Amino acid sequence: MLVLNKITEIKAILAQEKLKGKTIGFVPTMGALHQGHISLIDYSKQQTDITVCSIFVNPTQFNNQTDLVHYPRTPEADIKLLETAGCDILYMPEISDVYPESDNRKFDFGYLDHILEGATRPGHFNGVGQVVSILLEGVQPNKAFFGSKDYQQVMVVRSLVKQLSLSIEIVSCPILREPDGLAMSSRNTRLTAEERQISAHIPKWMQEANQLIIEKGIEAGKQFINEKVSKVPEMKLDYYEVCDAETLESISDIKANQKVVSLIAVFVGNIRLIDNWMVN
Ligand code: PAJ
Repeated sequence: MLVLNKITEIKAILAQEKLKGKTIGFVPTMGALHQGHISLIDYSKQQTDITVCSIFVNPTQFNNQTDLVHYPRTPEADIKLLETAGCDILYMPEISDVYPESDNRKFDFGYLDHILEGATRPGHFNGVGQVVSILLEGVQPNKAFFGSKDYQQVMVVRSLVKQLSLSIEIVSCPILREPDGLAMSSRNTRLTAEERQISAHIPKWMQEANQLIIEKGIEAGKQFINEKVSKVPEMKLDYYEVCDAETLESISDIKANQKVVSLIAVFVGNIRLIDNWMVN
């Protein structure tokens, strides 16, 4: 695996490969890699000839400086994991290579800016838009792979690609989970042993709530989650919403043939965890 820290070097190598007719797959990450990230590398390897991964903890998408400072960084372990997974090129830049000057662009993702993650993390998606546009324009892949764990992020990235008229296919990949159901996340390593145990309730309650939603309606599911979370002193609910899976608009009834997703953000201690499950 080639490890490079200048986008100009990546561009030069990929230009040669594209001339040979090779297709490029791209997996952007912020490192502290786990098997969820590696599953994206696997999808990229299955679907394209050359897989490029990036590791860059993007300061512009953190609206909370403490979260940025404490974001886990494990570069040596990341490189080993990527090498074992068969990743071809790793881009690991300094901030100055991604942002040679400060990025003042403001994207408009419409209502996606104002709901769920957009509502509780102001500026977050603008920062994601900035870094993803720079990375996509640098790597110019045929396909870019994102996890549906960050459901709203996939929608934001699709909107970005449309706004910038990039001819890149955005592939949404399934959520990888720990054996107890907790969605894999770099943030899980920051949970204490007790918090980690408590966190395993999240996927279980979400599945139970989905069952209730199907049997008794959306309100019953919401009540169930609120009650469960409020009984655990270490937990604080940020949001739980039931939405149209295609538009992410919050709904109160399920229409015939409507695809529906439930989404949660919950603090366990100081760590904010997110998850989502298709309802039907
Ligand atoms: P990061 O949180 O490192 O995630 C990188 C990619 O891995 C994202 O597409 C995310 O959805 C996916 N991912 C994380 N956990 C996963 C899991 N359990 N199963 C499957 N996929 C999973 O998301 C970001 O970084 C950043 O916002 C980024 C897009 C890199 C821009 O800075």
